[in-house]
Amino acid sequence: MTQITIRRPDDWHLHLRDGAMLAGVLPETTRHFARAIIMPNLVPPVVTGAQAAAYRDRILAAMPDGADFTPLMTLYLTEDTDPNDLAAAHASGLITAVKLYPAGATTNSASGVSNFENVRAVLDRMAEIGCPLCVHGEVTDADIDIFDREAVFIDRVLDPIRRATPGLRVVMEHITTSQGADYVKSNDKDLGATITVQHLVLDRNDMLVGGMRPHYYCLPILKRGSHREALLAAATSGDKRFFLGTDSAPHPTHKKEAECCSAGCFTAPNALSILAETFAAADALNKLEGFTSLHGPAFYGLPVNQDTITLTRQAEPITWPATIPAGSETVTVFDPGFPIHWNVT
Ligand code: NCD
Ligand code: ZN
Repeated sequence: MTQITIRRPDDWHLHLRDGAMLAGVLPETTRHFARAIIMPNLVPPVVTGAQAAAYRDRILAAMPDGADFTPLMTLYLTEDTDPNDLAAAHASGLITAVKLYPAGATTNSASGVSNFENVRAVLDRMAEIGCPLCVHGEVTDADIDIFDREAVFIDRVLDPIRRATPGLRVVMEHITTSQGADYVKSNDKDLGATITVQHLVLDRNDMLVGGMRPHYYCLPILKRGSHREALLAAATSGDKRFFLGTDSAPHPTHKKEAECCSAGCFTAPNALSILAETFAAADALNKLEGFTSLHGPAFYGLPVNQDTITLTRQAEPITWPATIPAGSETVTVFDPGFPIHWNVT
């Protein structure tokens, strides 16, 4: 097969940032995607309905001419979140989900949750109104090895939260382990998971062998190859509980190529091309549309997109600019390290 037409994809986990960075990176997403779940980890974070409305307005004001794109807003859950404000933002359609960051887990997560007892009432309210919780699933305890943080989170935090809050709809964001995939598969309802491009195509050797590659450093961190294989099997299985969330997370190039490198891979420009290459190599191109365009809307109870995109395999590998400009900064475009032949038209 050298060509495939699929419903226009959505990105169920995206960082757009703000200001000049937002203006720089937004066209890279609107070119291919119809909708995206917009992460609220700005500085300061998007914690109230009023802040989400203002952020949505800034995104809409930054839209490139002719773009047809809907940002699906989220609130950043804190121990001070007001359940009434959250419920009103959800009822009005302003927000699609709420994001849980364990305090200190990742970029701009200092305002996240430390004591999960303090958000119990909010989670109960979310279950009642049907507002999904998007979870960054890593514990932050200093004694837990960074490669184990997702698996430990499932046992110590996620499963207890789900048991204590029946009916709460949860998305395990950017799963990176076989334990994450297995946990999702072992639950029939109210649980889905997003998977990023980088976790489907890279493992920790790609990041660390022969020199350290900062543009492959993201959180949750890349794991060993067997986990990548488990994620690829889940993504290409056709199981509706797994869908694309790129977690495209732009940082200025100088903050990636730094002594203390910021976490995040900027995959918005080439995510779909890389996925087509990867699904084709796994002989699973017929499962691509489900992963990118059907399973996410089904989980969120939204209609699928009516228009389509076509991916065409060309003989010569495709190249992308090494960086894109964002104000006075540049952002380095993710390079998977192998040739990509699938063009989006
Ligand atoms: C994200 C960011 O930069 O905001 N970074 C990342 O490595 N994925 C935060 C996140 O989603 O963890
Ligand atoms: Zn993210």
